[in-house]
Amino acid sequence: MYKSEKLANSLKLLIENGIWKTNEKLPSLRHQAELSGFSLITVMNAYQELEAQGLIYSKEKSGYFVIAQEVSNNEHNQNVMLNPKIEINSTVFKYLKSIQPDNIIPFGTAFPDSQLLYSSKLIQTFSQLARHRFNYEQNPSLPPGNFALRKLIAQRYCIQGIETVPSDIVITSGGLDALNLSLQAMTRVGDYILLQQTIFYGAWQAAERLGLKVITIPEHPDHGIDLEAFEQAIQKYPIKVCLLMLNCHNPIGFTVSDDIKFQLAKLLHQYKVHLIEDDVYEDLYYDHKKPLSMKYYDQQNLVLHCSSFSKTLGASFRVGWVHAGKFSESIQHIQLMSTLSVNSFIQNALIEYLSHRHYEKHLKALRLSLKRNKKQFYNYLTEHLSPVCKIEYHPSGYFLWIELPEYIDSIYIYKMLLDQNISIAPSVLFNANFVKQNNFLRINCSFDFNNRIESILSQIVYCIKSTIKDHSIQS
Ligand SMILES: Cc1ncc(COP(=O)(O)O)c(C=O)c1O
Repeated sequence: MYKSEKLANSLKLLIENGIWKTNEKLPSLRHQAELSGFSLITVMNAYQELEAQGLIYSKEKSGYFVIAQEVSNNEHNQNVMLNPKIEINSTVFKYLKSIQPDNIIPFGTAFPDSQLLYSSKLIQTFSQLARHRFNYEQNPSLPPGNFALRKLIAQRYCIQGIETVPSDIVITSGGLDALNLSLQAMTRVGDYILLQQTIFYGAWQAAERLGLKVITIPEHPDHGIDLEAFEQAIQKYPIKVCLLMLNCHNPIGFTVSDDIKFQLAKLLHQYKVHLIEDDVYEDLYYDHKKPLSMKYYDQQNLVLHCSSFSKTLGASFRVGWVHAGKFSESIQHIQLMSTLSVNSFIQNALIEYLSHRHYEKHLKALRLSLKRNKKQFYNYLTEHLSPVCKIEYHPSGYFLWIELPEYIDSIYIYKMLLDQNISIAPSVLFNANFVKQNNFLRINCSFDFNNRIESILSQIVYCIKSTIKDHSIQS
């Protein structure tokens, strides 16, 4: 046994026997080294081991503290996990590079088929503005972004019953920038944040970039989010902020019900925990009623709501926003040191486009196309892959999340398909490094279902089925 393990075990006994109490500060690393006679590095390793076991937590510049034991002994708590070190960026980087070439079928991409975006009215607005009206010199675009665009976005919130003024809104370079800026404004290196166990890789990348410790909670099979695990996590760890997707979840696709959102809001208020809500698919619902956001339930300004036009108008515009409320000022400060501004020509074109109600008509048509395409992909794949694979259908967005048999690693399927110039997104992109949930894959089904698409899907089906068959022969 290593010295650090030995030390960790003896310190663990002090905690388990209540000699070190909840929230009590542990001796500093140096002091502990003097007390125990071990080296500083051994003590540090021992403390990190206890932290990984969920027995202590660290606070930047303050030291290590004991975590509440009554909660950590709770059997349900196995669902709440501390992810000690996040290393996902290079995986995502390699993956995105691999699917970039033009000849790759983009079933792995996170963006809808570009044929459905960049509407002719929008392009017309751009070209008219470029030719006649745009004064390039008089339109500097500093944080928080163009006032008229912020006003239009604020109006959209008000229509949904969310009291908003333009100064609440900060325009960002897409939704990812909105998430990153918000997280950076609210955390310091070493802080704890809470994420869903399976979530858009951008959230993991942001945590990695900012040196944050990530606590995860699992998805609930019926409700999308497990509120019990959520409450246990915030009782157990000093969580600074949560980053969650509750509408049209990427990659799984679920939308959390109003009732669960209401209960979640109550917990946020009770424990005074902030939430960064990633809602970039908010307009891609198929039911008659747009799902509410957590911002709707937010009475105490605890929610920062992030969204963008990337999934509805075009990813290349790179325009998003955050409803930042009282955090607007600190987000703008970071913006001034990083992305600085959002292209002012594009902001002006969007103002023109949004002012004339073209957007609502476009969204209606977009939703209809996505609904039709997703259903056709779903029908084909269920017909050919059930019952060996499970495919859930959610009436929103354009992703299907496919569960393969447990023994199949979706990385293997991804590699085989990439050799045939087809991309899919394996689950390793959406999970914490040590959660072994490798048997899922995401397919983008925003494309018009025709003979060509059917034949590509048949290649995917063949690849999955032959992998399953090879496995059963070998075992
Ligand atoms: C869930 C989610 N959030 C945020 C983003 C980033 O959006 P944007 O392209 O506007 O930066 C994406 C893009 O794929 C996404 O899927």
